[in-house]
Amino acid sequence: MQPSPTSDHPAPVIDRTVPSGGRTLREPPFDGPQVHHTSTPAAGRRPPARHEGPAASEARVLAVVDGPDTADYTDAADYVAHTATLRGVVRQRLVTRALIEHLPPAPARLIDIGGGNGVQAMEFARRGYDVTVCEPDSRMLAEARRVLAGAPESVRRRVELVQGDGRDAVRLVGTGWDATFCHGVIMFVPEPAPLLNVLVELTRPGGIVSVVGKNGPALALRAGLQSRWQDTAALLDEPGFTAAAGPGRQPTVPLPPGDDPANVAAILTAAGTRPLAWYGIRTFTDHLGDLPPGPDVDTVVDAEWAAGARDPYRGIARLIHHVHRRTE
Ligand SMILES: C[S@@+](CC[C@H](N)C(=O)[O-])C[C@H]1O[C@@H](n2cnc3c(N)ncnc32)[C@H](O)[C@@H]1O
Repeated sequence: MQPSPTSDHPAPVIDRTVPSGGRTLREPPFDGPQVHHTSTPAAGRRPPARHEGPAASEARVLAVVDGPDTADYTDAADYVAHTATLRGVVRQRLVTRALIEHLPPAPARLIDIGGGNGVQAMEFARRGYDVTVCEPDSRMLAEARRVLAGAPESVRRRVELVQGDGRDAVRLVGTGWDATFCHGVIMFVPEPAPLLNVLVELTRPGGIVSVVGKNGPALALRAGLQSRWQDTAALLDEPGFTAAAGPGRQPTVPLPPGDDPANVAAILTAAGTRPLAWYGIRTFTDHLGDLPPGPDVDTVVDAEWAAGARDPYRGIARLIHHVHRRTE
């Protein structure tokens, strides 16, 4: 295999069993966050890094990323609010359900790269796993710490929080993890390969690598189900259409290459894994904005789970969950 231009790993071979973007995507420049352990004194710390917008001359606008009710989920407050919505609950519960099928039994050591406010860390600590969260944003870590403080001692002692960029994680947390999670993070880095390669390096041979990314080929679905026809046509790359402007509309931004699930799977495989399964997340609920979960939430999750595990539904879901095993 040819070496990849972005890593020492062989060039990825596209796996067509997962949805493919089918187009070349360019990326915005990225100013990655600095690395701090939670124990590092705050003095002199840079403000938490935000993902900077594209320089107009460097990035081609491909389509709107999202429509109404879509916040910048790198913002801690936005993300914490999102995790309480039906869409947030569906997402987290489907990820947990899939992982239960593939993780080694507890106790095992899990690392959650870009673990945010610690939803999955808390969930798997409750299930008896030892979980380390590696997260660059101090506000996300503060929220994780706040929730952790209210958890039983048996959970608290199983969760460790480390501040830093996922791409530096080998240096920060070492290797040999039984499973490595990276959920909802690759859409925020300009180039997925360096981060995905690190995920594999972190994981012991035979361990699990779990990645959630956007389903780029199906991004028009939400706009269509919300009757935002101009956005829908723009997302379908129809000539002459650009995203609608005005209140409630998100600005147009370029789609990062991490939104192509086939590309993500191929990079992981080239780095030394084999795919075990992939799931769609949010086939039926993605257009529901900030609707809170109702009394039927368990049934909604069951329906989403059933759809997310089978064709053709999983191929049009908003997010794709890749589960791979490290082979070497
Ligand atoms: C949408 S949140 C997802 C949080 C969590 N993984 C979850 O699924 O609930 C995205 C997270 O990725 C983090 N992030 C962004 N760039 C990162 C990077 N280069 N390395 C590690 N984490 C990163 C953000 O700080 C944020 O907490």
